[in-house]
Amino acid sequence: MEFPFYRSISKENPYRICFVCLGNICRSPTAEGIFQHKVKERGLGSYFYVDSAGTGAYHVGEKANATSRSVAESHGVPLLSRARQFDSDDFNEFDLILAMDASNYANIMALKSGTTTAQVEMMRRFDLQGTGEDVPDPYYGGLNGFEDVFSILERSSEELLHQLTPHILTE
Ligand code: 4NP
Repeated sequence: MEFPFYRSISKENPYRICFVCLGNICRSPTAEGIFQHKVKERGLGSYFYVDSAGTGAYHVGEKANATSRSVAESHGVPLLSRARQFDSDDFNEFDLILAMDASNYANIMALKSGTTTAQVEMMRRFDLQGTGEDVPDPYYGGLNGFEDVFSILERSSEELLHQLTPHILTE
């Protein structure tokens, strides 16, 4: 089902997306890198502000995990972000906050207070081969886990951008 995005997107008012996982070193930096790569490739870079964060503070300041980076790099996607922790201000800095798993979603919602315009959703809502379930945490698994995560995030990002594209006001 199409997601109900609430506003149109212009260069003056770019659409702001924050991808969120636990550590901000594996899943969410990969999602950020893939989505950023797609919008740049399509000449839509100035219509989006893309970021990622972790609900935990364990890896703040670190580059993305070395395996996440090498898997993404092998698909032509550089991961350039440094880990930061998600905080309640992010509800006012972003239009869409995408949780990688149900636990991230619960942690995000626990920080929400007052009225915010941000929409919070599960990343795999946009996976045409999924039904809104978790993006599995690859941190304690082998290389296959990282490749699987990349494929899930690639599919979900493609559908996300596909659903957002009609909202872009091009000149
Ligand atoms: P991520 O993976 O949430 O996809 O970045 C994790 C990385 C580190 C930890 C947990 C998950 N950790 O507990 O250190």
